[in-house]
Amino acid sequence: MSDFNKTRSEFHLPEGLIYLDGNSLGPLPRKAAERVASTITVEWGDMLVTGWNKAGWMAKPTDIGDRIGKLIGAPAGTVVMGDTLSIKVFQALASALRLRPDRKIILSDTGNFPSDLYMAEGLVGLLGQGYSLKTVAPEDVEGAIDETVAVTLITEVDYRTGRMHDMKRITEKAHAAGALTVWDLAHSAGAVPVDLTGADADFAVGCTYKYLNSGPGGPAFIYVRPDLAESAEPALAGWLGHEQPFAFDQNYRPGRGIERMRVGTPPVLQMAALEAALDIWDMTTMAEVRARSIELTERFIAGVEAACPELTLATPRDAGMRGSQVSFRHAEGYAIMQALIARKVIGDFRAPDILRFGFTPLYIGEAEVDGAVKIIAEVMDGRLWDREEYKRRARVT
Ligand SMILES: Cc1ncc(COP(=O)(O)O)c(C=O)c1O
Repeated sequence: MSDFNKTRSEFHLPEGLIYLDGNSLGPLPRKAAERVASTITVEWGDMLVTGWNKAGWMAKPTDIGDRIGKLIGAPAGTVVMGDTLSIKVFQALASALRLRPDRKIILSDTGNFPSDLYMAEGLVGLLGQGYSLKTVAPEDVEGAIDETVAVTLITEVDYRTGRMHDMKRITEKAHAAGALTVWDLAHSAGAVPVDLTGADADFAVGCTYKYLNSGPGGPAFIYVRPDLAESAEPALAGWLGHEQPFAFDQNYRPGRGIERMRVGTPPVLQMAALEAALDIWDMTTMAEVRARSIELTERFIAGVEAACPELTLATPRDAGMRGSQVSFRHAEGYAIMQALIARKVIGDFRAPDILRFGFTPLYIGEAEVDGAVKIIAEVMDGRLWDREEYKRRARVT
């Protein structure tokens, strides 16, 4: 049995704040501050360049990848850390297209995160030769998979609504049509149980600064199905993905297995923070986190719907169909969220009209859910959001 009071005590959570935005940026694990400080002073400071060997920096991308793998149903040696998620989307897509040279279509959905679509557009523009990105409504993805599709690019949990795609079914359908799959797990890793092996997913990518709590700018990860790893060409052929980086060969030869998906120098300080964050994940199981997340999201939906009829639920009512966030729609969503933030309930806003709240059992419990519901009800009842200052858009929403 996991002790969620214990996991909660492992985070620095500012006094009086109800933090429901761990789906965007997880809070600071207390030990991350110490770990980064010692990586700076003891490792960088005293070891200097020898830290690559002595402190094991060079092996961290795969060591940490193995730890992430446990949270997403991926065996050791199939996940590696590095770069940002947008870059990893590009890399996975490019590799997948090369594995299906006779096909030209990337299939995605209109609910996908813009960066994924932009990366796909950029890639097809670069490739020319009739490559194209096709997007359909999320509910039409399965029906649109046919023998012309090279690869599907799907974000499992929709960043706006929290609606979850069926990874296993879509992957089966893709494979039956001879296509490959790239799964974006940005809103899945640490939010819902993921079983990449069980679903037979081909590629998966994700970030660590949301539910995995690695801090702003934490490294992304990429997974490649073990039997594809030796034939997948990394496209972004950086020196650290080379078979022998320190041979400094003139020509690229891909490294063994997942190592080839490395590109350049890994972010050592961010990885130190991530390691401390993953220590907290060792205290629980994804199944328990999921069960608790469902309890919390059910409680929040019931509370808000009872108190605020003006807010329309945008998240699937069926808990099995959603991730670990709850979204409501309102035409004045931006101002409402600013009014909530001013009252220390932190969620975020996604255009055009979505109020988003993330539920993260490692540090959120019933008290925060009930506290948030009460303040949302006050803001809605009294139209406390209806002030000019709450309507001025900031750079980040
Ligand atoms: C689903 C999804 N894909 C891609 C990205 C882009 O990630 P990054 O900014 O780390 O490249 C995000 C960022 O929030 C995301 O939510």
